[in-house]
Amino acid sequence: MAEELQIPRTKSKAEKYEALLPQMESLVSGESDTIANLANISAAIKYTMEFLFVGFYIIKEGELVLGPFQGPIACTRIQKGNGVCGTCWEKEEPVIVDDVDEFPGHIACSDFSRSEIVLPVFDQEGTIRAVLDIDSIKLASFSEVDQQYLERICAIAGQSL
Ligand code: SME
Repeated sequence: MAEELQIPRTKSKAEKYEALLPQMESLVSGESDTIANLANISAAIKYTMEFLFVGFYIIKEGELVLGPFQGPIACTRIQKGNGVCGTCWEKEEPVIVDDVDEFPGHIACSDFSRSEIVLPVFDQEGTIRAVLDIDSIKLASFSEVDQQYLERICAIAGQSL
């Protein structure tokens, strides 16, 4: 399985996402365990797209709690409305931050993080259950292209919630 997830670095961002999507579908369709699926999804994104941090924060008892991720250690609990993750949860829509230093209340987990995208993950009933948080070491790493593909990935992740 690991070899299937190795996608050449020369591909464009869209091509990498296009290659990732069917792999995500196949990972999730063959396994029902939430943690296993979110772990593999975060690993597949991290090692294909070469981001700094890719991870899920799961809504538990009124706060976001760190879930499966790949990357440097991260803060474990985030309140609704706090930081980029808590803002995404509150708005229930994707948040793109070109420069984390310009985002009021940004929660700095790594000194190397420069830009960030956070997307909501909804379950089959349309209830927000988690957010997908991705950090980059470069400024303005995330665009509409990332958002569109990552929304599709979050829909796949939502199938196993
Ligand atoms: N920067 C996030 C916190 C999570 S870490 O980036 C892993 C935020 O402001 O919500």
